[in-house]
Amino acid sequence: MDQKELSRILDNVFPNSGHKEKVRFFSAPGRINIIGEHVDYAGGIVLPAAIDVFIKIAIRKNQAGKFRIHSVSSGETIESESVSYDSEHSWVNYAYGVIEEFRKLRHIAVFFDLVIWGNIPQGAGLSSSAAFEVAVAFALSEIHGWKFSREEIALLCQRAENNFVGVNCGIMDQFIISTAKKDSCIALNTQSLKYEFYEMLLEGYEFYLIDSKVKHSLKDSAYNDRRNEVESAFQKIKKHRPEFTTLYQVEPEDLENPSWNLNEIEKKRARHVTQERYRTGWMIQNLKIGNAKEVGKILFECHKSLSNNYEVSCEETDFIVEELEKENALGARMIGGGFGGCVLILDINGRKDILFEKIKNRYSAKFGNEPKLYTFRISDGVKEF
Ligand code: GLA
Repeated sequence: MDQKELSRILDNVFPNSGHKEKVRFFSAPGRINIIGEHVDYAGGIVLPAAIDVFIKIAIRKNQAGKFRIHSVSSGETIESESVSYDSEHSWVNYAYGVIEEFRKLRHIAVFFDLVIWGNIPQGAGLSSSAAFEVAVAFALSEIHGWKFSREEIALLCQRAENNFVGVNCGIMDQFIISTAKKDSCIALNTQSLKYEFYEMLLEGYEFYLIDSKVKHSLKDSAYNDRRNEVESAFQKIKKHRPEFTTLYQVEPEDLENPSWNLNEIEKKRARHVTQERYRTGWMIQNLKIGNAKEVGKILFECHKSLSNNYEVSCEETDFIVEELEKENALGARMIGGGFGGCVLILDINGRKDILFEKIKNRYSAKFGNEPKLYTFRISDGVKEF
């Protein structure tokens, strides 16, 4: 989708903009995450990277006295003089949430016409919704000359999702989509928000994705429950160990301490979060020296913990990972919020087509539908184009 096509749609859908405002174009990428899953709301370190699937928007200030937003994929056009939660067109709330968060900071958006197009598969764990939020926030900041930094944009979008959309997500998705650099992942400390770029140097190996096509929606899923379980575990621990500021700092073996009185669910959730700290440290060391075999092993271990301790996998993604392990792929794990979506795979260059064919046949025989293979490049973050 290029500028010309987006402009054509904008003029078609909103023929009566009736003035000379300039159309501007913005794009925001999807994301993967190498390691650090479900720890970005527990003060953990995450290692995400942006990938070359995008949300693209064309935006123009209007004098129609309304926000007018058109989605190319659904064909819907929403018009509204004010911002209030739209339960019939849930996608538009990502834009409304952003407008509302700017308003809270006394930055009032002028009315605009906006067309959104995207090729980030929805519900696949690749953050299409965060990309929409970040594209809109970055665009609004630019067209009004508000000069928000990329980090501020990320935080504002997280608040939009928490407060307006109602998903109590962490900061990972919005942060990487705002700050990403081509060919690098970032190691982001979600407590201090300090981050470093790491070049993805695993020569001779490749990452790719298999989409289970099981759609997850974080709003309907147990995502918010997981956050609450982790929070209640931490509150119990804090009574005994007030020096801890996040659950991530706790030692996994201490979770068995009977005086902490964690129930079985809290123990399992906290076990994932606290062990993920070790996996992440080990992952960073091995990425630095290009030890792909070890990187792969850590991916499998992470998946097992997400499946057994955190219980955010599902039969389909477990099946894909298990089959890949049987076929001696280097490593694989579900990514993102979970309950379906994509599996991230690391393997030797050149094996993916044969391997995918095998997995696809077995998967279809078992579940009656076909998974999908995605290859990608590591991309830049949000930008004007
Ligand atoms: C979703 C959330 C993120 C993060 C991941 C799990 O993508 O939006 O904040 O919690 O799940 O790591």
